[in-house]
Amino acid sequence: MSKTPVRVAVTGAAGQIGYALLFRIASGEMLGKDQPVILQLLEIPDEKAQNALKGVIMELEDCAFPLLVGIEAHSDPMTAFKDTDYALLVGSRPRGPGMERAELLAINGAIFTTQGKALNAVASRNVKVLVVGNPANTNAYIAMKAAPDLPAKNFTAMLRLDHNRAASQLAAKTGKAVADIENLAVWGNHSPTMYADYRFATIGGASVKDMINDEAWNRDVFLPTVGKRGAAIIAARGLSSAASAANAAIDHMRDWALGTNGKWVTMGIPSNGEYGIPKEVMFGYPVTCANGEYKIVEGLAIDEFSQECINKTLAELQGEQDGVKHLL
Ligand code: NAD
Ligand code: LMR
Repeated sequence: MSKTPVRVAVTGAAGQIGYALLFRIASGEMLGKDQPVILQLLEIPDEKAQNALKGVIMELEDCAFPLLVGIEAHSDPMTAFKDTDYALLVGSRPRGPGMERAELLAINGAIFTTQGKALNAVASRNVKVLVVGNPANTNAYIAMKAAPDLPAKNFTAMLRLDHNRAASQLAAKTGKAVADIENLAVWGNHSPTMYADYRFATIGGASVKDMINDEAWNRDVFLPTVGKRGAAIIAARGLSSAASAANAAIDHMRDWALGTNGKWVTMGIPSNGEYGIPKEVMFGYPVTCANGEYKIVEGLAIDEFSQECINKTLAELQGEQDGVKHLL
């Protein structure tokens, strides 16, 4: 084993997403089968949470993962984030039945101020941060604003679950393999206002839009299905999505770190004004990744319907941003 180990911090490590995530990171599915990792796991100081974390660590040890060269348990972000190269911010309250994600802001917003400050103080200057905890875009925005000494571009929010959900719905509709879908985009907020956009998507070079050729299906079935999928899972399971969320987090970090070979994926990233989105808004964009950096797919035509959808999700994000001014 020749590569230097990297430090991966995961918050909410004893929660349900944590349980679906850690074993896959430790087995090399996120950063590659040749990349040793040290896990720096954060939970709240509460005795029950710390005990649960101990149990998860015992199980990680019992897997004898060759790539897992260190495991640390923490209750303070200032130690959990020390020198970390990757930070997956999962820990926060999930929503229950009948709630919208934005309602979690009052409960979860403060967590991301504290954690942003801690990252700013002690993390690697190149840390790649992924916020999973909801409302993910605005929590990522809060963390980014609390970390002025780190590059803003290092802070991202998880839209990948929406991207994967959209791809899966399109595969089912067209009867094609999900792996063959290219050039899909999800714009905006990880909320029902997100705009999953398959106008540019292709399968084997053929246009998905032409294959489906049904605008009513797009508007009345596809967009609501993808947008409300999280709520449908909560209604069915009584708990919010966990394995699919962990899977999307792995996809997001793997692609950011190891590249997409030109394939489009969706990441929530701070805008630099692209597509008319005001600077710093944490917005879902189609990107490609190479050499550890993401790049927005630029120059896409935005038609009237798409612009309306983008305006709606942007307005929601700006409303959320206004609502957290007191935390910044
Ligand atoms: P969970 O309740 O099972 O686990 C959350 C864990 O976080 C708990 O163990 C809790 O003790 C811990 N925690 C709470 N505050 C913390 C803090 N300040 N520091 C460290 N740990 C802390 O919840 P879950 O199902 O794992 O979901 C976690 C979050 O992820 C929720 O906000 C949920 O809505 C969100 N989520 C986001 C997406 C997405 O696509 N962005 C998908 C699914 C879930
Ligand atoms: C999801 O999309 O499944 C998560 O954001 C959980 C939720 O509250 O919907």
